[in-house]
Amino acid sequence: MVPKAELHCHLEGAASPDLVRRLAARHSMALPDETFDENGNFAWSDFLHFLKVYDIASSVIRTPEDYRDVTYQYLMDCAAEGAIYVEVMSSPDHAAAVGMSYADHLEGIVAGIEEARSESGIEGRIIVTCVRHLGPERGVEVARQVVAHPHELVTGFGMGGDENTYSPHDFTPAFEIVHAAGLPCTAHAGEVAGAQSVRDALDALPVQRLGHGVRAIEDPDLVRELADREIVLEVCPGSNIATGVFENYSAHPLLALQEAGCRITLNSDDPPYFDTSIGREYDRASTLFGLDDDALRRVTLTAIDGAFADPETKEKLR
Ligand code: ADE
Ligand code: ZN
Repeated sequence: MVPKAELHCHLEGAASPDLVRRLAARHSMALPDETFDENGNFAWSDFLHFLKVYDIASSVIRTPEDYRDVTYQYLMDCAAEGAIYVEVMSSPDHAAAVGMSYADHLEGIVAGIEEARSESGIEGRIIVTCVRHLGPERGVEVARQVVAHPHELVTGFGMGGDENTYSPHDFTPAFEIVHAAGLPCTAHAGEVAGAQSVRDALDALPVQRLGHGVRAIEDPDLVRELADREIVLEVCPGSNIATGVFENYSAHPLLALQEAGCRITLNSDDPPYFDTSIGREYDRASTLFGLDDDALRRVTLTAIDGAFADPETKEKLR
């Protein structure tokens, strides 16, 4: 099996429908019927509706133990598919929405990573993310919490959420706080918005990687810049097709970006929402993009090179 490495998965979006139902029962919560479809999967219709259902499902993650369970289950599933390294994005804003402190959410995630590592050998790291549509003040607050609670497994900072709200420039102060503390950064851009959104993120934020970034393909100069600056793209093809960014695999620009010299990695984003997993992303890259095992191993090496882990860990994973 080709070893796999993942840089882009939202922890709250990694909880399976079964786990979400179990956590809801643990807290005697009733989720709206329309959270699930007739097969018990998450039900959503477009990107903004997806973000709403995601918030509802995330509201069952309420204690450190819940965060531990989500993290442990996700990493063990990844390990079973041959993943050796996974970065999970955590969202202190989702924790705060259910009354959890930053420290409590972190404690649970760390426990999940450590238990999964001792049972399977998988390495996990945490990218703490702010949520763009919640605004720059929340971004600054999350950044301050990251710096106030340093932890060896928190190795990066990022931003998700609705790319069509606010501007990356609004979040420069938040990113500067974590960047000044020495943490590397990534941000979603070029997913639901086009090339200008990628350019704005590159201009405004100290990012070494981009979440998605794929709509940079709309501007050849920008693609060249991404290649020249060796920005690592956290590409999530299954997610892009599920949310309608591209119609199908033939329309997806992964190969074109790679041929233009961009650094491409494969990622699942929010696996149960998009009917995917890190294993399935690698499988589909093989069958639908025609990447052979050597090409897939190079994708994994690109992910390890771009990982926000310490150099010794990266060397061991290579
Ligand atoms: N939060 C969770 N999943 C996301 C995605 N695909 N894009 C932006 N924000 C997200
Ligand atoms: Zn994402």
